[in-house]
Amino acid sequence: MKTIIEPFRIKSVEPIKLNTYSDREDILKKAYNNLFLINAKDVIIDLLTDSGTGAMSSQQWAGVMLGDESYAGSNSFIFFEKTIKDLMGFKNIIPTHQGRAAERILFSTMAKKGDYIPNNNHFDTTRANVLEVGAHPVDLVCSQASDFDTPFPFKGNMDIKKLKKFIIDKGASNIPLIMLTITNNTGGGQPVSMKNIREVSLIAKEYNIPFYLDACRFAENAYFIKLNEKGYDSKSVKDIVKETFSYADGCTVSAKKDAIANIGGFLCTNDDNLAKKKKDLLILTEGFSTYGGLSGRDLEAVAYGLKEAIDEDYLQYRIESTKYLGQKLNELDIPIINPPGGHAIYIDAKKFLPHIPVDQFPGQALACELYIEGGIRSSEIGSLMFGGKNEKKQPFFATHELVRLAIPRRTYTQSHIDYVIEVMKKIKYKSNKIKGLKIFYESKTLRHFTARLERV
Ligand SMILES: Cc1ncc(COP(=O)(O)O)c(C=O)c1O
Repeated sequence: MKTIIEPFRIKSVEPIKLNTYSDREDILKKAYNNLFLINAKDVIIDLLTDSGTGAMSSQQWAGVMLGDESYAGSNSFIFFEKTIKDLMGFKNIIPTHQGRAAERILFSTMAKKGDYIPNNNHFDTTRANVLEVGAHPVDLVCSQASDFDTPFPFKGNMDIKKLKKFIIDKGASNIPLIMLTITNNTGGGQPVSMKNIREVSLIAKEYNIPFYLDACRFAENAYFIKLNEKGYDSKSVKDIVKETFSYADGCTVSAKKDAIANIGGFLCTNDDNLAKKKKDLLILTEGFSTYGGLSGRDLEAVAYGLKEAIDEDYLQYRIESTKYLGQKLNELDIPIINPPGGHAIYIDAKKFLPHIPVDQFPGQALACELYIEGGIRSSEIGSLMFGGKNEKKQPFFATHELVRLAIPRRTYTQSHIDYVIEVMKKIKYKSNKIKGLKIFYESKTLRHFTARLERV
């Protein structure tokens, strides 16, 4: 059949409160043009993030009821640990309350001031955690990533030549680990090929540098490999996932993405000595090593979610439904990163709103317009998120000004997505009237979460 259906039935629903254009103008003004400061009840379609916003299955909810809340050695942890070991093959599994806690433990125990951490693209929390220990996050994504129109299917790939040169230039002893983000969220949710994962791993081995994956969206990445990489079409996603992790020494995972849990994360490593250090830090700041800041019921939800994440009917629906939104925006000539990634569609706001200069945040201006026009919450991935001021108080800007429409897993139906497309069509015809923004309050780190902006 041509129609790809949502491979689930809806058992429980959550009402959406509809509001009007003028309600939304008022709400946004009171939130200082920052969509993080809006109450969820005032949002019609929430595409702010795919993180922790997925709908859990009946099996996950059943797991929640079974959660063993023992402080140490709970059954839920044993199930969680076994599920991850079976799926990913790592020796040490350390639960954390979410991805950034895993990142903090990883960098605090492995990196120090002045070190360099290469990645295809660091996600914002990853970058912030690298900076927090005084190390330098360096993005070495392939050149195709910045060409939003080429159909190259693996724009998340690391530039292998650049990586090698970087290691030679900086010296392997100043690089405590190499990271690779699958799929590459900051770079448009673009996948990384198995060939690239293998090549990065070989270079890491050659220079004796540990290789870690930021693997929040490992299942979506594996499905793209199955779809688009030679030699993988007849392999199961489960086997592709196994092969992916076999090349790495460890990983950080936010279980709020592909594991379809509302909270959770974990850190894996094959290095027993490092695992001890990491667990000590975990106990100090997150909780004992068999719960890491999570409850037993959360561990159950994550474990079942990981099993469901590699279901190929689910992954087909997931990837195709994101592609559907991308294709419709392409038909409307709205510039997006092509080909569509796994968890989100990224609109090129610089191209869509050429009259707004980067210091007036075209991405944020478009995100605000999406809210006012249709009550849709999206996120800016541009200079509000990645710009700032350097030590000399000079402003610097992001390479791209994007608006991310992140699709929560199993949460919205096709008519919700059709509504988003209709809103974008409306905005397109009045795009030249959209005004830029300026910041009048910002915090020192991760400013996009709390910044206050006003219309120019
Ligand atoms: C690629 C990537 N790494 C790390 C994180 C951080 O995970 P968390 O939000 O659970 O801290 C995210 C979250 O969006 C992400 O997309």
